[in-house]
Amino acid sequence: MSELLTRAGAWYAIAVLAFFGIMGSADAGFSAHLTIICLAALVAAVASTRSFDFVTRRFAVSARSADISHYDDDPIRWGVIATLFWGIAGFMVGLYIALQLAFPVLNLNLEYTTFGRLRPLHTSAVVFAFGGNALIATSFYVVQRTCRARLAFPSLARFVFWGYQLFIVLAATGYLMGITEAREYAEPEWYVDIWLTIVWVSYLIVFVGTLMRRKEPHIYVANWFYLSFIITIAMLHLVNNLSMPVSLLGSKSYSAFAGVQDALTQWWYGHNAVGFLLTAGFLAMMYYFVPKQAERPVYSYRLSIIHFWSLIFLYIWAGPHHLHYTALPDWAQTLGMVFSIVLWMPSWGGMINGLMTLNGAWDKIRTDPIIRMMVLALAFYGMSTFEGPMMSIKSVNSLSHYTDWTIGHVHSGALGWNGMITFACLYFLVPRLWARARMYSLRMINWHFWLATIGIVLYASAMWVAGIMQGLMWREYGADGYLVYSFVEVVAAMFPMYVIRAAGGALYLSGALIMVYNVWRTIAGHQRQEKPMTETPHNAEADRPFIAVPAE
Ligand code: HEM
Ligand code: HEM
Repeated sequence: MSELLTRAGAWYAIAVLAFFGIMGSADAGFSAHLTIICLAALVAAVASTRSFDFVTRRFAVSARSADISHYDDDPIRWGVIATLFWGIAGFMVGLYIALQLAFPVLNLNLEYTTFGRLRPLHTSAVVFAFGGNALIATSFYVVQRTCRARLAFPSLARFVFWGYQLFIVLAATGYLMGITEAREYAEPEWYVDIWLTIVWVSYLIVFVGTLMRRKEPHIYVANWFYLSFIITIAMLHLVNNLSMPVSLLGSKSYSAFAGVQDALTQWWYGHNAVGFLLTAGFLAMMYYFVPKQAERPVYSYRLSIIHFWSLIFLYIWAGPHHLHYTALPDWAQTLGMVFSIVLWMPSWGGMINGLMTLNGAWDKIRTDPIIRMMVLALAFYGMSTFEGPMMSIKSVNSLSHYTDWTIGHVHSGALGWNGMITFACLYFLVPRLWARARMYSLRMINWHFWLATIGIVLYASAMWVAGIMQGLMWREYGADGYLVYSFVEVVAAMFPMYVIRAAGGALYLSGALIMVYNVWRTIAGHQRQEKPMTETPHNAEADRPFIAVPAE
């Protein structure tokens, strides 16, 4: 009982503090955020009261944790739904800003819907809300299975899920209101950063706690990747967000760093967010789900260990490739370039390890659309990790930087690698988490695969053409020594590419909508009557030795 009073009381106290904060807040955006926090704390207080079982005198979540015959999958089920929800939201905003670049009238002349505000909404929605939820959900699934232990601290695991959703809501509403630190991928202001730190440390505790409860002597390599992702993101987040708030009741803050140190800290963060969130975390997904779906052991365990250590050692130094030809000292730029080029090898080591896991099961690409998605994801991982090192070479970067080539590189990685491996893992998880024999429709997965693939190809190829064209037009000098093209002429030349990119985005989004329908029907317990995809054609007539027939 006293536990109930402490917990519900703490939430009520937060709600009351937030309420008083609203009255004294320095700006409208901050009071809007405090209102959200106040409501969230009230909901949490009511929820903890309602989840308390007055007979056993325990919280329902703790009571459930007494049932040790099953893994603790509730936060994973919620995570799967949240991943899909935020994924659709993020893709829709992505499509909208893609259309804005082709048709600027879509800015609607409203501050809330300008490209500048919607762009970070898109990047955070897809990277942190879609990608982050996928990582949290799959890590909770994988760590339990590979350790043969239930999640440690079940209540804390639930706090991680809901706390992370609150972080997303605060970040997203902040962008729309114009509250931003203007640091790419780290835009939320100081108080949202503090909240994320609390949630993230809780995540680390649940993950490590589960590892420590393991019944298996060995820690499977996927958990190494997840752990490096959780720890490194914590470190990056803390350092890059060091800042001084202007007022404790206002949203504005100023960075602790200045000038080129600030830029270097930001891109040390930015590049490692790519390296540890969009790469290491997703590689963890690959190391568990690809062998599972292929029903084969991972190709080389030794390679996975070399892959792990070389990848994390190299990634952390490569950030300066984002600052070529800036005020950053030349040696630091060269260091970033060299480490990026060397990074190609471990990246391909990982791709090869994933692909070779299919040895002896390559026929599944024809019959299993989930394997097909995984193979495509690995192919795009390989492609973007070849392209990245190439773009980090200073002379190549002098052409590619500031152009749409970077955007093409980002999305071949994001749509091809992160998106496809996430879809494949969710298709793997949904029937298992909701105890269904299979997905509602395998053919719809196939449709999703093709729509997404064509979408990515349109997106990436349009951006490659646009990027190289931009780069070349900007540096074109006439015989008189003047630039041949004005900036606006280059912008106008991009129009067809931007329309093709938006078409690619629309296809990608429609594939994801098919997925939502498929998942919804699976959860509802339906199975579509359709021709099986797993049927390998067999011609009994042709299945016999060749017998020479004498000529007539
Ligand atoms: C329907 C699919 C998508 C569309 C149409 C789309 C569209 C866009 C557009 C138009 C931009 C701004 C480009 C610019 O400023 O010139 C952008 C930026 C970005 N998007 Fe997407 N996007 C999609 C999906 C994704 C996904 C799934 C991810 C990540 C998992 C992602 C990550 C990013 C990132 C990181 C940036 C910033 C790139 C940079 O600053 O260099 N996008 N996207
Ligand atoms: C070996 C691996 C990789 C290397 C060396 C690398 C290198 C680079 C380089 C040189 C840039 C352009 C920097 C600039 O001109 O401003 C870049 C941008 C970017 N890359 Fe990669 N890349 C790699 C893999 C990936 C992967 C797998 C992803 C996953 C989606 C990714 C996401 C991004 C993003 C989001 C940006 C845009 C950053 C911005 O906002 O400006 N990269 N990368």
